[in-house]
Amino acid sequence: MSVTPLPTGLSFQSGEGELDAARSRIEQCLSGLIPAETIWPRALHRAQRHALLSPGKRFRPLLTIFLTQGCGASADLVEASIEVGCVIEMVHAASLILDDLPCMDDAQLRRNQPTTHVAFGESTAILSATALLNRAFGVLARNKTLSAEQRVELCDLLAYAVGSTGLIAGQMADLDNDGEASVAEVERVNQLKTGALFDFASDAAAVLAGSNAAQRSALKDFSHQIGLAFQLLDDVKDVLQDAAMSGKSAARDEGKTTILAIDGLAETKSRLHGYMDGARTALDRAGLSNTTQLSAIIDAQFAFLDAI
Ligand code: IPE
Ligand code: IPE
Ligand code: MG
Ligand code: MG
Ligand code: MG
Repeated sequence: MSVTPLPTGLSFQSGEGELDAARSRIEQCLSGLIPAETIWPRALHRAQRHALLSPGKRFRPLLTIFLTQGCGASADLVEASIEVGCVIEMVHAASLILDDLPCMDDAQLRRNQPTTHVAFGESTAILSATALLNRAFGVLARNKTLSAEQRVELCDLLAYAVGSTGLIAGQMADLDNDGEASVAEVERVNQLKTGALFDFASDAAAVLAGSNAAQRSALKDFSHQIGLAFQLLDDVKDVLQDAAMSGKSAARDEGKTTILAIDGLAETKSRLHGYMDGARTALDRAGLSNTTQLSAIIDAQFAFLDAI
């Protein structure tokens, strides 16, 4: 397959072009990572493509790519970060398929389309999510640019981020949350169910770029704050946005103890600003070469914070 290299070293003035290039490389890469719809069993592959290729914001892969670039990785490793970012997007898509099931959040709409189980049935949805998760590890293991050590480290970090120490544990705790919970307990759940993949994005950038311990720790602080902020703002959107605005079923958190439910909107807003300030400070500490561009990518994802 012929690919256009991601331009490097562009000034912020031309940064929009670089962002657009990264977005289109992500879409192209995602499409190539899973089987075509024509391949048997077709429903399994149609369902995976429906979940993975529907128009998501692609925040996790964008972060992975620009963090890797900002850490000073060589051009071929920045190129490899596109695939690593897409692996995160595969895990994320799998988690959304499962999260939307009737036994979890029972959602009908995702990315302005019917959820995967609504479009393809529950059994196909569950199998698609499992296949996407499985493929994610295979893609990491087979990457042609990364060293064997890097591939093993990434597989290990991803397993940590997804399993009983990460996203799945967080989802489990989230489903058990139907009443009493403190802010600290909800933060812990948010960190696991959502923050874990952001942590993996920053860890992956550090592995690809060979970051020193100080940079790695700053990136970890950054992703921790971003993960908490991202889930909390999502919880605010669940209440304040309807499905036409968000593209997904609204009011799915009713009956759940979110930080918004505990603290109210004004305090939640100031907590969100606190997370974002923490993320910016950590990003500065990481000493990346493209902080301005990364900040613009992040600000775009958190634009709704200015509207509340
Ligand atoms: C939704 O994630 C699930 C959460 C962890 C809050 P996104 O808001 O990134 O969803 P897409 O990928 O853009 O659809
Ligand atoms: C989901 O959180 C986090 C996942 C790990 C999937 P939500 O249940 O709040 O995500 P949305 O609002 O359905 O996207
Ligand atoms: Mg959920
Ligand atoms: Mg949900
Ligand atoms: Mg939500």
